Amino acid sequence: GMIWVFNGPNLNLLGLREPEHYGSHTLAEIHQEILKIANEAKINAECKQTNHEGVLIDWIQGLSSEDFLILNPGAWTHTSYAIRDAISAVKVPVVEVHLSNIHAREAFRANSVIAPVCIGQISGLGAEGYSLAMHYAISYQKTQGK
Ligand code: DQA
Repeated sequence: GMIWVFNGPNLNLLGLREPEHYGSHTLAEIHQEILKIANEAKINAECKQTNHEGVLIDWIQGLSSEDFLILNPGAWTHTSYAIRDAISAVKVPVVEVHLSNIHAREAFRANSVIAPVCIGQISGLGAEGYSLAMHYAISYQKTQGK
């Protein structure tokens, strides 16, 4: 199985975009760190970003049952029943990651329509949230024999 990291809208702007909420690391730097962790564990990982909801849905539909997904859905976290349904359809284990603490910001960010179809959520730990999700995904893959 593969570990996939999918990032949703506007996350291509990390580093420049509201650093007080999202930190100063670029998405390329975050992806580099993720691939380093995968390499050390001898596990295959791939990181992608899209600003297009249908593209993300196609990527989710393309996952295999042996895979694991780390997902930062960006603002689709709060709005997208279509992404939630795609996750339900493929039955792949998902961990939701947010750089910022979505529970400590505007009221509309506190609700995730994605969280109920995920194993769990990491929110507010900055770029380190992705690394922690990677370590979880690796041990999950190993205990499931994938
Ligand atoms: C985010 C939080 C969302 O509310 C926001 O729309 C984003 C980024 C985060 O990583 O903190 O685009 O998912």
